[in-house]
Amino acid sequence: MFTRGRARGSLALHCGLAAAMAGACAPSDTPPQLSEGGAAAALAMAKPTFTATGELQRPEGYREWVYIGTPLTPNELNPPEAPFPEFHNVYIHPADYAHWKNTGEFQDGTVIVKELVTVGSKQAVSGNGYFMGEFVGLETTIKDAQRFADEPGNWAYFSFGHAYPLAETAPALPTASCNTCHDASADDDWVFTQYYPVLSASKGGTGTTADAADAAPTQQVSTAAAQALTGDDDVPTSADALFEYLQAGKYTSFAREAEAHKSVGPHPSPDLVAKSTVRAYFNGPMDASLKAGNATHPKGSAIVKEFYDDNDQLSGWAVAVKAEDDSQNGQGWYWYEVLSTTDGSSPVAADKGVALCWGCHLTGRDFVLSSYP
Ligand code: HEC
Ligand code: HEC
Repeated sequence: MFTRGRARGSLALHCGLAAAMAGACAPSDTPPQLSEGGAAAALAMAKPTFTATGELQRPEGYREWVYIGTPLTPNELNPPEAPFPEFHNVYIHPADYAHWKNTGEFQDGTVIVKELVTVGSKQAVSGNGYFMGEFVGLETTIKDAQRFADEPGNWAYFSFGHAYPLAETAPALPTASCNTCHDASADDDWVFTQYYPVLSASKGGTGTTADAADAAPTQQVSTAAAQALTGDDDVPTSADALFEYLQAGKYTSFAREAEAHKSVGPHPSPDLVAKSTVRAYFNGPMDASLKAGNATHPKGSAIVKEFYDDNDQLSGWAVAVKAEDDSQNGQGWYWYEVLSTTDGSSPVAADKGVALCWGCHLTGRDFVLSSYP
């Protein structure tokens, strides 16, 4: 909290958000000093530009933007070693933050910066913990409908390195390296707003108080719709019946993802994920609930996910069925996975509350990780 207060305070002090957005703080040639005077604040207002060859110039002045959070994935929780064990300090440009607050949307041109900071000390007078050390890396994402017309959501991703000195410029990274994971798992327009309460609590266009804004799009599907679980929508929650149901293809008329794609998760299994593709199908209640943007889904909502092998042959399924009114931390969901289309006798999972499954799906919207619709 205090860092956010400081960033906002310094904006007000040096320039003023309104003045900055009205263009009263023109960019200057002053180097990126992070503290003193109006010039630095003015520079902080400048968005990064592109080189003639389309590479992104390293952003500057972003430590004076709006600070939205610090996810941390320490080695201790990701043995033996996390891919990014550092703090991820995330900032959004003030004009983009203002737009988000007013409308609940990321405007075209939105810039978000993630600065990596090493874990320094693990001990302080306040106790044991994780304390920030040195700046060590920088990544950026930009939404630009014209420049990145072909990128999903028009978001492109850039890395300026994971060790100092950082690169001066960076090319947009391939869709599969970055965008695909954001696409599948981020809550809001490719951004992981679920980990940035500063954003979720300020999301505009949906309510007046912070909490209402956070929880706004949660109107439940009508009880009638939830109860209309007839025929194909009624996905069985016992292993044998479900395998028969899957073999008979009773889910194939559901709303589904446009095409099979690589799993950004471990599906169908960690050793097969590189060679396989997946495609998810959503039964009526689940489809309606996801389209309504509900925070929780009605009992009976179900997703069937097909696995395809490297010859594009169907090779198995994963299924999640909300079996209770309350998700109960994953205990209320029935989880099923089988890596065969001919033999249902040894499913990988077939039970309510399978920890292997819900432990990962916990980060989703009521346990659903797909970005559909
Ligand atoms: C395995 C999934 C995954 C991949 C691949 C991935 N990211 Fe992310 N990214 C995340 C998660 C989760 C967060 C939020 C939490 C965190 O920072 O750990 C995030 C946050 C970010 C943010 C902050 C803004 C936001 O959208 O939340 C930026 C910028 C970013 N990533 C850039 C990149 C770049 C650049 C790449 C490719 C080199 C990349 N990401 C690849 C999962 C991923
Ligand atoms: C390491 C994390 C992880 C684990 C463990 C995991 N999943 Fe997933 N799962 C994902 C991700 C990420 C997606 C999003 C779509 C994709 O790219 O595969 C997903 C998608 C799904 C879907 C499609 C619906 C949705 O939420 O998007 C089903 C069904 C599913 N998983 C079932 C299971 C079952 C059953 C298990 C346990 C056997 C399981 N998952 C274990 C990460 C995980």
